[in-house]
Amino acid sequence: MDFINYMQPSYDKNEIDAVVKYINSGAWITEFKETRKFETSIAEYTKSRYCSVMMNGTVTLIASLMALGIKAGDEVIVPDFTMSATSHAAAILGAKPVFVDVERSTLCMDFDKMKSAVTPNTKAVIFVDLNGRYSEKFENIISFCRENRLYLIEDAAQALGSTYRGKFLGTFGDVGSFSFSMPKIITTGQGGAVITQSEEVYDNLLKIRDFGRECAGSDHYMMIGSNFKFTDLQAVVGIEQMKKMPERIKHKKEICKKYDVLLNEIGELELFKNNYEDTAPCFYEILCNDRDDLIDYLKERNIGARKFYPPLHSEPAYGYTDIHFPITEEVSAKGLWLPSSVLLTDEQIEYICACIKDFYS
Ligand SMILES: Cc1ncc(COP(=O)(O)O)c(C=O)c1O
Repeated sequence: MDFINYMQPSYDKNEIDAVVKYINSGAWITEFKETRKFETSIAEYTKSRYCSVMMNGTVTLIASLMALGIKAGDEVIVPDFTMSATSHAAAILGAKPVFVDVERSTLCMDFDKMKSAVTPNTKAVIFVDLNGRYSEKFENIISFCRENRLYLIEDAAQALGSTYRGKFLGTFGDVGSFSFSMPKIITTGQGGAVITQSEEVYDNLLKIRDFGRECAGSDHYMMIGSNFKFTDLQAVVGIEQMKKMPERIKHKKEICKKYDVLLNEIGELELFKNNYEDTAPCFYEILCNDRDDLIDYLKERNIGARKFYPPLHSEPAYGYTDIHFPITEEVSAKGLWLPSSVLLTDEQIEYICACIKDFYS
């Protein structure tokens, strides 16, 4: 069996033809009409009023915080278990990320712990729709933020196409942020998008992504901004990838369901109970005690697997070694992602599961 990557991008003749056609048109590569089309396709898909596409899903978080007026000294509540971009986005602006633990069942931010972390300096909450899931108390989180005038940023980097009560994840906060990096359900190599219903926030985003300019091409600067702009070369890929969303959602769910069936009988593993009506997982996750040995064992058999994120609070970047978040600490030590790309075949899943069975027998 050839090496099975933990993730890999998927594209075909449609993306290749779109890139060739675009380049042959003598276009300028920089962001322009194709980026606007890509934004429209995301806004229409998620049923959002506005969408702004930028370089990646980290700058979309930074730009979102800036657009909402988050500044140095403000506190921003973030989950301890997430990709580092969530908390770094606040920290890079001089705001203080305040970590809270996650729910064991969903690995999303725990509502009660979030409430206890609020102080008079709290200005925003970044809720991560981890792996296309939402919290058991998602409704409480949304209404708590609204009632307490806290901005809610949905970091939906891993959740494009997943839903809650019939609406797409990413649409429940003041802004929703997506990533199109390689492991995501669609990819443009690097890329990200912010969606919002607010014209004011959208206007700020347009300025922030373009040096704070009053409008494109102007040399009048209304605010501090940066260069977070995308390229049309990537946009033509993104437009083709968006067309594949329905089939990818279906395939992601099928992959996870097949893993569920084949791994269910292995007592040493703990599986997550996903609600596949709503969730199209990015990754297939398992928890086990011999995680590092299992990763090595799979690697020897040409299977790529990846460890869960570390508890962010105790990473050297933050250094809060005197506080503990038991759930994040436990799952970080036990969790791994198995190969989950949309290119994965049934035969590969069967091989991976057979190797895991062998490991435990
Ligand atoms: C939850 C989460 N937030 C933010 C990001 C950052 O996105 P990007 O890699 O596009 O900068 C990622 C990427 O993996 C992510 O998983």
